Amino acid sequence: MDKDFFKEEIYLKKIDSTNNYLKLTSFEDNIIIYTFNQTKGRGRRDREWLDFKNKNLAISFLIKSNLNPFWLICTASLALIDILISLNIKNCWIKWPNDIYINDKKLSGILAETVRSQEKIEKIIIGIGININNDFKDLQMLKNATSIYIEKGKKQNLKRLYRNYKNHLSGWLIELIDNNNLNLIRGRWKELNLGSFKKIKWVNEDKTIYGFIYDIKDDGTLVIKSNNDLYEVKSGDIQVE
Ligand code: BTN
Repeated sequence: MDKDFFKEEIYLKKIDSTNNYLKLTSFEDNIIIYTFNQTKGRGRRDREWLDFKNKNLAISFLIKSNLNPFWLICTASLALIDILISLNIKNCWIKWPNDIYINDKKLSGILAETVRSQEKIEKIIIGIGININNDFKDLQMLKNATSIYIEKGKKQNLKRLYRNYKNHLSGWLIELIDNNNLNLIRGRWKELNLGSFKKIKWVNEDKTIYGFIYDIKDDGTLVIKSNNDLYEVKSGDIQVE
């Protein structure tokens, strides 16, 4: 690898949640931490993220930036897709805004959290959980989950996979932050977001839109094309039709 975006890397033998750890400890920016034994992982919307010791990879990184966190979520997704492609896993895609799927099954989820002072974003913490060596039995109580082992039929070396992931993530972050190359990230994200070429249904509490993902704006707003109209949405859920 040419250049490492991260100034510091920490491996934790065991931790409740890698995101909590970064939130509660004062670190400089550009730090990455990881564990193979997360005991109380958190998901979006106060959901729990289930980890199995030595089968899942939990990673969090901290950046001090005023970028929209969406773009950091993108880099975390793109790095994982790079790994899946290098493992020859087909049909992997990004489900807006925070999930990575293989076919119709979820492999990985991302939780973005911000720490603000006086309304200004002070730091952004991005946490990604990846199912790696889980078998069917581990995941059977979860709806629609998969792992790299289930997809490939071969157990993975967790440490090696982490190293590869970090290298790819570092490359995307250098493009995004050091080189200011938002368009590169946007272009790749659009290629890999299934909603860009398959019909989607977007829903929130009181509205539903059917259409295609048309674009993503600099502030992370999603643009959906429905018939000939463009709709801009900032939250909600996407289902692929
Ligand atoms: C989701 O699918 O809702 C997001 C799941 C995010 C899980 C990761 S694992 C590393 C980091 N630490 C946490 O407690 N959560 C995130």
